[in-house]
Amino acid sequence: MNISIFGLGYVGAVSLACLARDGHRVFGVDIDPHKLALIRSGKSPIVEEGIQELMAQVISSGRATVTDQVSEALRETDLSFICVGTPSSYNGSQDQGALLSIARQFGEALKNKDRHHVFIFRSTVVPGTVEELLVPLIEQQSGKKRNVDFSVGFQPEFLREGSSIKDYDKPPFTIIGTDSDRATEVLKDLFGHLPCQFNRTSIRTAEMVKYCCNNFHALKITFANEVARLCEPLKVNPFEVMELVCQDKQLNISTAYLRPGFAFGGSCLPKDLRATMYMAKNHDIDLPLTGSMLPSNRVHIDHAINKVLSLGSRKVALVGLAFKPGTDDLRESPLVTLAERLLGKGVNLAVYDGEVHLSRLLGANKRYIEEHIPHIGELLRPTLEEVVAHADVLILGSGDKQVHAELKPLLKAQHKLIDLAPLKDISDLPCQYLGLAW
Ligand SMILES: NC(=O)c1ccc[n+]([C@@H]2O[C@H](COP(=O)([O-])OP(=O)(O)OC[C@H]3O[C@@H](n4cnc5c(N)ncnc54)[C@H](O)[C@@H]3O)[C@@H](O)[C@H]2O)c1
Repeated sequence: MNISIFGLGYVGAVSLACLARDGHRVFGVDIDPHKLALIRSGKSPIVEEGIQELMAQVISSGRATVTDQVSEALRETDLSFICVGTPSSYNGSQDQGALLSIARQFGEALKNKDRHHVFIFRSTVVPGTVEELLVPLIEQQSGKKRNVDFSVGFQPEFLREGSSIKDYDKPPFTIIGTDSDRATEVLKDLFGHLPCQFNRTSIRTAEMVKYCCNNFHALKITFANEVARLCEPLKVNPFEVMELVCQDKQLNISTAYLRPGFAFGGSCLPKDLRATMYMAKNHDIDLPLTGSMLPSNRVHIDHAINKVLSLGSRKVALVGLAFKPGTDDLRESPLVTLAERLLGKGVNLAVYDGEVHLSRLLGANKRYIEEHIPHIGELLRPTLEEVVAHADVLILGSGDKQVHAELKPLLKAQHKLIDLAPLKDISDLPCQYLGLAW
């Protein structure tokens, strides 16, 4: 293929060298004359294992050339990767100056091109940037139309500095965000052979995935470092602890707990987080990440309350009360907190939870309810039909599939369903649906 690469920093230089190595004809474009001169002489502008040799090889082969002329690069190629920098501005926002400038130049250059062109943005960008900022700029400047004269996509880059050539050849996955079959096919030809899953999604999702991956990596590093800081005064070996933690591939290093939903609760997580923070306080250890978890969890409950109150109806039903399905355990259930907070706001609340109702009848949970949450106990109804009939707004807190199946036929057009569960399939719901944060 004839490919142009805009921005020859870490991402662009590695892509240029690897694509040319794989037999493609590659045009590199940058505004920095020193970088262009270095590459022209067969030298790499970045320090990376294997890049100097590879750059010398692809430049001498003639398959890679560089220029500062955007129009020349677009004329000579049918596919462009855009890898210009998107650094932080002074206030933390993303500086998109280089991207905006290059999109304008693409528009100008496209005016004089009569072949279709595919633009794949690889710079990390805030979700919405490609479709709301860059595509309109290209269309305005060129007078041409997306998906007619040109296609766009966003492909997040996952290489790590220090091992970027290895990462290029063995990425964790390939993600291409696009609405264009043409762009997808081109990228499949280029990257479909790599030993990883090839995923197609929307542009916005692909843009967001990149932030989530980087933030998740930062979260993991910070977590392990907080574990170490707490282990030190406790005379525990943090390496041994984390090695054992990582052995659990069912709950720890797995997809468990990574699906968005409602707040956590129950008899263990909140209590153990509190005890951890107390240990840290006792030893004068600062753990900002661990200390932020309970406050963040409370914000999630606040979010649910705001959503319910924003609907303006006072007749509300809560389906589910225990902290997870298949249990009658009400200790520190976030649904109990939600119910209490809604009551405090004057909401006329009815509650259904089959397990809690049954255990109360059997006497198992009777004492807990009577001693700790008598005001909630009074709101419990014996059947789902009763709570649905009571309410305009239904809050689905239970994750129990059986409850979901029983609830669906009872819903009517006038109901508003706030889903905390969350439901996997909402296609056949007869009522208005509101996800908690989706
Ligand atoms: N460095 C990484 O490991 C890495 C990994 C994944 C994603 N990313 C993302 O990829 C993007 C590029 O990162 P990088 O580290 O390669 O950046 P970099 O700062 O090393 O390189 C950016 C290059 O773009 C050039 N440039 C700026 N304006 C230009 C223009 N108008 N036309 C042509 N070239 C222009 C600059 O001269 C520079 O050479 C960023 O959005 C970054 O967040 C980086």
